[in-house]
Amino acid sequence: MGYDLIVKGGTITTATDTYVADIGIEKGKIAAIGTNLAVDGSKTIDAKGMRVIPGGIDVHTHLDMPFMGATTADDFVSGTTAAACGGTTSIVDFAIQKRGGSLREALDTWHGKAHGKSAVDYAFHMIVVDLPESRVKEMDKLVDEGVTTFKLFMAYPGIFMSDDATIFRAMSRTKENGGMVCMHAENGGVIDVLVQKALAEGKIEPKYHALTRPMSAEAEATRRAIALAEMAGVPLYIVHLSAGDAMEEVRRARERGHPAFAETCPQYLYLSYEDYEKPGFEGAKYVMSPPLRPKGNEERLWKGLQNNWLQVVSTDHCSFCMKAKGGKIGKELGKKDFSKIPNGAPGIETRMMLLWDAVAKGRITANRFVDITSTTPAKISGLYPRKGSIAPGADADLVLIDPKKKHTIRCKNLHMNVDYNPYEGVTVAGSIRDVLVRGERMVDGGRFVGRTTHGRFLKREPKALERMLS
Ligand code: URP
Ligand code: ZN
Ligand code: ZN
Repeated sequence: MGYDLIVKGGTITTATDTYVADIGIEKGKIAAIGTNLAVDGSKTIDAKGMRVIPGGIDVHTHLDMPFMGATTADDFVSGTTAAACGGTTSIVDFAIQKRGGSLREALDTWHGKAHGKSAVDYAFHMIVVDLPESRVKEMDKLVDEGVTTFKLFMAYPGIFMSDDATIFRAMSRTKENGGMVCMHAENGGVIDVLVQKALAEGKIEPKYHALTRPMSAEAEATRRAIALAEMAGVPLYIVHLSAGDAMEEVRRARERGHPAFAETCPQYLYLSYEDYEKPGFEGAKYVMSPPLRPKGNEERLWKGLQNNWLQVVSTDHCSFCMKAKGGKIGKELGKKDFSKIPNGAPGIETRMMLLWDAVAKGRITANRFVDITSTTPAKISGLYPRKGSIAPGADADLVLIDPKKKHTIRCKNLHMNVDYNPYEGVTVAGSIRDVLVRGERMVDGGRFVGRTTHGRFLKREPKALERMLS
């Protein structure tokens, strides 16, 4: 008897190996890898000349998220369709605790947003906004249910920002329950003073978003977050790291033996402060936190990825239209005040192609590309080896990249529900040709052919880092 499907003759590329072989798929899982697997009536995908990689894992997305008086343009249907088209087969999105509300309530709300509305598999982090001692045990229950990571903010006073006591309390609890804290590391107090000063001086344009969020505000918060994690005796994951100086803090922590990890995002590798200087209100497209940094900073981040001072590239996909669309307010909210521009940018569909371009340009190897976009995200977030690997027993989440077919990024051809793209007109070296999620075709010849009900909730394993480091 044959397999349900065979991916034939592709160049299998994992975080460690590159070789030509067939992949036999049964019941959504990889059943066999070998040369010349017998077809025996199986359906086949001809992968000759294609790179076959484990599906991308984007551990930082914001779909259907209310934020700064707006709601993100992409919900789970459009966001995960875009993810699939871009070669991402699993996401980890953020549920948000309401101030004074329970973590349970927040998780139920996000299950409601995603259930039956996702093309790719999904998991959740929990954004913790307020954590009195009486709520700490709620974290344990979430870990039991596969929500093992808790994002806390050192920025956004009055919205998300936690004080050091709250952060330390949450970190200390992860020592007990096997979860992990993910940190938005920017000094929100200092930034707030700088923002108020700029506004009082009549500085209202988008570029002041970046000018009021200096690198040192990110580096200081990163250093403080690491110090708190060291005091609590727990690992730490820094999200959306943008500043080379912040990366140095992570690097130093790792060198002295503390398990500190960090992700960066394509926008910090490919865009720069100069984008804020574009005419009129165009700079609003790039308003995100932390902000884009001056040219030259990206070279430090590439070096960090090459040397494993940074371990993951996620997107922080948080899309807002420039102009209100379908009843959803957009970035125009901040036309007269940069501090009111909803923070965030789209990226879920373009991450893999932009990073593959870096392989073609020789910045990273193909194996490192797989490592930072799939394997290490899976390991750190407790999804490995079910996700992030090509091995018997793993989910058949596979992406076929045509390395010879160039692709030009155009907003009108993408699937994200947003009216601009930060990389408009950029030509990348390869194209995402086919995508399978648990053996089911999502993308065929670059076209979405999947079901937006296929995605399943992923219950993640606790103590992921302990397992990764052992
Ligand atoms: O600007 C950003 N990053 N928006 C999303 C919220 C966050 O801090 O991740
Ligand atoms: Zn953040
Ligand atoms: Zn984010």
